[in-house]
Amino acid sequence: MGDYDSFVAKFHTATGIDLTQYRQSQMERRLTTLRDRRGYANFTHYLEAALRDADLLAELMDRLTINVSSFYRNPERWHAFGAWIAKNREQQGTLRAWSAACSTGQEPYTMAMVFSEFMTLSQMEILATDIDPHALGVGEHGVYSRDDLEAIPASVRERFIHVFDDTKDRFNDELRARISFRLHNLLRDDFPENLDVVVCRNVLIYFTDDAKEKLYHKFSRSLRPRGILFVGSTEQIFHSETYGLSQIAPFFYTRMP
Ligand SMILES: C[S@@+](CC[C@H](N)C(=O)[O-])C[C@H]1O[C@@H](n2cnc3c(N)ncnc32)[C@H](O)[C@@H]1O
Repeated sequence: MGDYDSFVAKFHTATGIDLTQYRQSQMERRLTTLRDRRGYANFTHYLEAALRDADLLAELMDRLTINVSSFYRNPERWHAFGAWIAKNREQQGTLRAWSAACSTGQEPYTMAMVFSEFMTLSQMEILATDIDPHALGVGEHGVYSRDDLEAIPASVRERFIHVFDDTKDRFNDELRARISFRLHNLLRDDFPENLDVVVCRNVLIYFTDDAKEKLYHKFSRSLRPRGILFVGSTEQIFHSETYGLSQIAPFFYTRMP
C-alpha cells in the first residue's frame, strides 16, 4: 500500500473519517501542502506525529474539513428558498429542518432568520450537524464578528442580535434555542427522518460520485413527501428522479410523493 493510501486507512481507524469517499486529487493536494509545511517527508510520519500531538491533529482536521461559510451565502437563493417555503407550507405545525454540514453555524442561523419572516420561532426546529466539533462549538456559542454579521439585513439584526464585546455580537437566546448542534458524519451516521427541509450546501463537491449518489438517496429518504432539498451553487443533481427527487428550481428539489 502506498504512503497516502496507508495514511487514509490509519486515519479512518483513528478518527472515523473515510477519506476514500472524498475526491482524492483535491484532498491529497490540500494535505500534502500542510504536511510539507510542517516538515514531514511522508504521510506515515506525519500521521504518527499528529496522533501524539493534539494541536497538530486539530490543524490536520481543520485542513480537511474546509469550514468556509457565511451568512446569507448566495442571498438570491435564500430569498427564493424563503418564498418557496412560505408559499408551500401546508400545515401550521412545527417545521423540521436540517442544515447538514453546517460548519460554524452561519447556515442554520440564516435558515432560522429566513423562516422567522413568516412563522413564529416556536414553529421551527432546526438540526445543525457537522463532522467538526470545533465548528459546532462556534455555532452553539452563536458569537460572530460584526463584519461577518454585516451580511444580515439591519432589521433582522436588530431583532435577533445583541452586542457581545467591542468587535463581536451574539444571537439572542430565543433564536439560539431553535437550533440544535450535533456531531454527525454524513458518510457514516444514520439520517434523521420526516423532515420538511434539508439544506446541504458546499460539501457534496468534496465527495466522490459514488458517495454523492448514496447521499442523494439518503437525503431523499430523510424528507417527507414534498419536502425540499436545497443544495450548493455548483452541486446540481443530474437525473434527480433516480433518487425520487424532482427539481423545482435551480438548486432546489422536492421529494416526489
Ligand atoms: C465549506 S463548509 C460548508 C458550510 C455550509 N454548508 C455553507 O455552505 O456555508 C463544508 C463543511 O462540511 C463539513 N464536512 C466535511 N465532511 C463531512 C462529513 N463527512 N460529514 C459531515 N460534515 C462534513 C466540514 O466540516 C465543513 O464544515
